[in-house]
Amino acid sequence: MSLASTVETLACFSCEARLDPNALETLCHECGMPLRVDLDLPVGNPADLIHTDDFSMWRYAGVLPIPRSDAVSLVEGFTPLIEVGEATWIKDETRNPTGSFKARGLSMAVSAAVLLGAERLVAPSAGNAASALAAYGAAASVPVLVAMPEDTPRPFIDECRHFGADVNLVPGTISDAGRWLAANRGPRDFDVSTMKEPYRVEGKKTMGYELFEQFHGDMPDVVVYPTGGGTGLVGMWKAWDEMERMGWIGDDRPRLVSVQTAGCAPVVKAFDSGAETTEFWEGAETTAYGLRVPGPIGGFVCLRAIRETDGTAIAIPEQEMYDKTDELAAMTGIDVCPEGGAVWAATRRLKASGWIGAEDRVVMFNTGTGLKYR
Ligand SMILES: Cc1ncc(COP(=O)(O)O)c(C=O)c1O
Repeated sequence: MSLASTVETLACFSCEARLDPNALETLCHECGMPLRVDLDLPVGNPADLIHTDDFSMWRYAGVLPIPRSDAVSLVEGFTPLIEVGEATWIKDETRNPTGSFKARGLSMAVSAAVLLGAERLVAPSAGNAASALAAYGAAASVPVLVAMPEDTPRPFIDECRHFGADVNLVPGTISDAGRWLAANRGPRDFDVSTMKEPYRVEGKKTMGYELFEQFHGDMPDVVVYPTGGGTGLVGMWKAWDEMERMGWIGDDRPRLVSVQTAGCAPVVKAFDSGAETTEFWEGAETTAYGLRVPGPIGGFVCLRAIRETDGTAIAIPEQEMYDKTDELAAMTGIDVCPEGGAVWAATRRLKASGWIGAEDRVVMFNTGTGLKYR
């Protein structure tokens, strides 16, 4: 078992320091910031790299750091695009194992961790990531410990235990859960926290590759995405850069819209003020638990992705998010989560203001199933 031969190095998103990809690593040794997996991908035809007989995210194994033969997979990704009118589509991530897009990142992270010799996997989570980690840990027969805020809806907690994970509940937010884990994990535990481990982004980047295929090589104009830790946003941005280097697309990018809620909007605040980094959001409060991330360590990378794609960032008030969640679910029959409701609210606002034009083709991400929030 070894990493794909295309893996060149781990590189820091901030200081560009390089690390050996053949070791279990979390953050940059020089500056403590998130690492990226750099791949040496061939210039050429997409058809040569896409396994069209594989209907999961592993159809893109040619651009992924783990060979298909070493994938810990429950058949994740390759989710449908559902048209909802006005040149707008929902990318329906509820179809993933454990019902959320977190399956993509955790399939990749668990595959990499197993390959590199991890003995137990740990992570703080708002719910969906914990469920996915528990499932992939079970699939790989690797023990899992998750820490979650104590107000995490019960279905997430039950689901983790159902998959045999140890669960610890902590007062506060995911940041407090992260602090609890840092103080309580064992020396041989490997931390697969969002953006503190480089392979989750590699799983999430498959969403960018899927949009390329689903739009027949022509990309949508706008992608509206709910942002917590930012792996999805950063993953798609990385995918499009890779595609440009391989000659699949030009330098045009979908404009990335980062959606948060008014109760926890560190990325939006930094974007609006022109800052290059996010500040810790005190008193974070929202029932879109995946967006209750007051101090995203990869906030500066999200800001780069938004600005380099001429995108924007928008915060939605809690009540509007509830209303739009139910509205979109009732309109489409898709099990919209609060984060997906915030995305719908943002899309309506941006269409009303003209930032999204009538001709723009828009993809909205519904990142997970709504049922577990009740
Ligand atoms: C349903 C849902 N949407 C969005 C997010 C935010 O994702 P990211 O950390 O990739 O920004 C989360 C994270 O927990 C989530 O569970």
